[in-house]
Amino acid sequence: MTDKNYIIEQAKQKAWEFFKGTDPAHDYWHTHRVAAWAVKLAEKEGADVFICELTAWLHDLPDKKLNHSEEEAINHVEDWLQKYLENEKDIEQIIEIIETMSYRNGENSSISSLEGQVVQDADRLDAIGAIGIARAFAFAGAIGEQLHIPASPDKEKRQTAIEHFYDKLLRLKALMNTGTAIDIANKRQRFMVSYLEQFYSEWEGKL
Ligand code: ADP
Ligand code: NI
Repeated sequence: MTDKNYIIEQAKQKAWEFFKGTDPAHDYWHTHRVAAWAVKLAEKEGADVFICELTAWLHDLPDKKLNHSEEEAINHVEDWLQKYLENEKDIEQIIEIIETMSYRNGENSSISSLEGQVVQDADRLDAIGAIGIARAFAFAGAIGEQLHIPASPDKEKRQTAIEHFYDKLLRLKALMNTGTAIDIANKRQRFMVSYLEQFYSEWEGKL
């Protein structure tokens, strides 16, 4: 097998090229943070560190929003892996993790391998806490959503950055797989709840 460090460097390079020009909610640095957390969680949880880190570097390359065809993009990642990994089982495992880990594939989509659970947790951790908040507002800006609409006059529920906390961010804590990620998610949850309290206080002119 090609040297593991070399493969990781190639994956990093691939991510760097791929994310040129994407919005800040979905960029090279998101992938960089996910890879760093994947390594940390893998070490603590006893998962295969190399598989977790490599999968993390590749996990968003087939994202629906960034590709014409998700299927083609997955095939492309698989072809790329064939160049570097000899063990078909490793390739299969990485592809399976990437395909199943997305939140969009269902809140309850359970992921079987420990490596998959680690990478999914690392990705979800980046959607919560201070960084998760920053990403939500950046994403909202990129798609033209407003910050907050307290009660729209036409009573229609509007998608806003604040609404996204309830749709997704505050729910992620309960979806963490590993003990290590659950501990971190609990801290980040407290921060998000206190952020929302401050936000509403300022909005209502109380602070
Ligand atoms: P992921 O890459 O974790 O699968 P998405 O692609 O759905 O997540 O979203 C990327 C980032 O943008 C995440 O931080 C997510 O919380 C945020 N986001 C997604 N949809 C919205 C939305 N409608 N409004 C605000 N933020 C959003
Ligand atoms: Ni991601």
